[in-house]
Amino acid sequence: MIKEVIHEVFPGIFKIHIKGEVFLATLNLTRGRKVYNEQLFEIEGKEYRSWNPTRSKLGAAIIKGLKTIPIKPKTTVLYLGVASGTTCSHISDIVNETGHIWGVDFSERPIRDLIENVTRYRKNITPLLNDARQPRSYSIQVPMVDTIYADVAQPDQALIVIKNAKLFLKKSGSIILVIKSRSVDVSKNPNEIYASQIQILKDAGFSIKEVIDLDPYEKDHALVLAKFS
Ligand SMILES: C[S@@+](CC[C@H](N)C(=O)[O-])C[C@H]1O[C@@H](n2cnc3c(N)ncnc32)[C@H](O)[C@@H]1O
Repeated sequence: MIKEVIHEVFPGIFKIHIKGEVFLATLNLTRGRKVYNEQLFEIEGKEYRSWNPTRSKLGAAIIKGLKTIPIKPKTTVLYLGVASGTTCSHISDIVNETGHIWGVDFSERPIRDLIENVTRYRKNITPLLNDARQPRSYSIQVPMVDTIYADVAQPDQALIVIKNAKLFLKKSGSIILVIKSRSVDVSKNPNEIYASQIQILKDAGFSIKEVIDLDPYEKDHALVLAKFS
């Protein structure tokens, strides 16, 4: 019989070795329920959801060697650009019932899908149909958080996360910014765009901890981990 090997790479985040393949995975908070047709694995009485790095930039960054991740059980997260919840569902598994996520998106369709398929079952996510450029519009619902995750694919993506950090990020908090270089300028080299967005974060008082190029999982994207210095 072939035995699976499970290795917890970060609290709540696993690598499962099974039949010669390695899957990134999280413990399913909603047993038996899938979010984006991911594979489910039943191992020693626990159910794991495979985390597809081609569908989730945070998953890609972990596979590509992210060294620290400011998301673990009990973490509170403000998620900008939550869409229909693919990545958010894994964050929901990780922070579990002891943490919480406030998920902002300004498009009605993905928020509707998020509510129907994800937040109906996962009580640790609050969906918010709002524009992340207007953080005061949701300041009554959102408390100070440990981590802000931003994946809005907008030309002013760094400024959006800074605006939100000023209102909602705890002093010791972290931000994770996904930079989509083509949203800023399609004609420029992605590395130039990453450097310019990172400079905007530094000028706002953040220190940069890690930068991960997401190629080949997401071309022309980088993930930046930063903290208030
Ligand atoms: C690349 S998708 C996010 C994918 C998602 N993070 C995931 O990994 O599952 C970008 C999302 O950001 C949203 N968005 C873009 N600009 C926004 C803004 N100013 N305020 C709120 N949401 C925004 C879009 O509607 C879209 O759903």
